[in-house]
Amino acid sequence: LVAFFAAKLLSGRKVLITAGPTFEAIDPVRGITNLSSGKMGFAIARAAREAGAEVTLVAGPVHLPTPRGVHRVNVQSAQEMLAAVEQRAQTASVFIATAAVADWRPAAPSTQKIKKDGFGQMPVLGFVENTDILATVAQSPHALVGDLYCVGFAAESHDLLIHATAKRQRKGVPLLVGNIGPATFGQDDNALLLVDAQGHRELPRASKRVLAQQLIAEIARRLPALRT
Ligand code: CTP
Ligand code: CA
Repeated sequence: LVAFFAAKLLSGRKVLITAGPTFEAIDPVRGITNLSSGKMGFAIARAAREAGAEVTLVAGPVHLPTPRGVHRVNVQSAQEMLAAVEQRAQTASVFIATAAVADWRPAAPSTQKIKKDGFGQMPVLGFVENTDILATVAQSPHALVGDLYCVGFAAESHDLLIHATAKRQRKGVPLLVGNIGPATFGQDDNALLLVDAQGHRELPRASKRVLAQQLIAEIARRLPALRT
């Protein structure tokens, strides 16, 4: 693995990564988010950079330092994340979606802070589903012709292999990576299940740094050779 990174087998590749949670506004002072720490995505960005790639990291609201040499774009909402990703994906050769994108956003966020009405009546929030960023990118012409290798993540509470296999097909991506429980949010280590068309294999529990390096190696050897 050390020799692999010394060889910089991702040099000449552009890698685009989403990381962290998204934040969906309810009003100017409130919103809906989740417990994603962003650590796995940031570790992958670092590993990709160390393997020689040109890396863009589209990050939701997290307090993590930007890995050296990585271009970071900060976003809040899923819609902002989609906008930041869509154009950049057209020139990338790898897209890795580690972000815990909010599945729904409030349909009509208030421009003013919502006040208690004084009668104990609760506000009623309507929701709309956010666009699936990974599925959208995976169905773009650039990906469909094989010039963009897309990788998804999945955190499941049960039946990981079954859900990850179904999710890989539903999203139309060649590689889907499952977080092997218990819940890994915020932890420094993890274990991963890699599911592709050939089957599945496990990357046993290790630090997110080491797993990120192993995952980058797994992705690199699945890429088509660079055209010269
Ligand atoms: N994802 C995405 N955009 C969304 C939702 C998910 O890009 N709006 C990506 C995630 O970054 C991840 C993969 O899709 O790589 C799977 O996300 P997950 O939440 O596990 O799947 P969902 O399709 O949202 O299904 P569910 O949450 O119902 O299991
Ligand atoms: Ca989801």
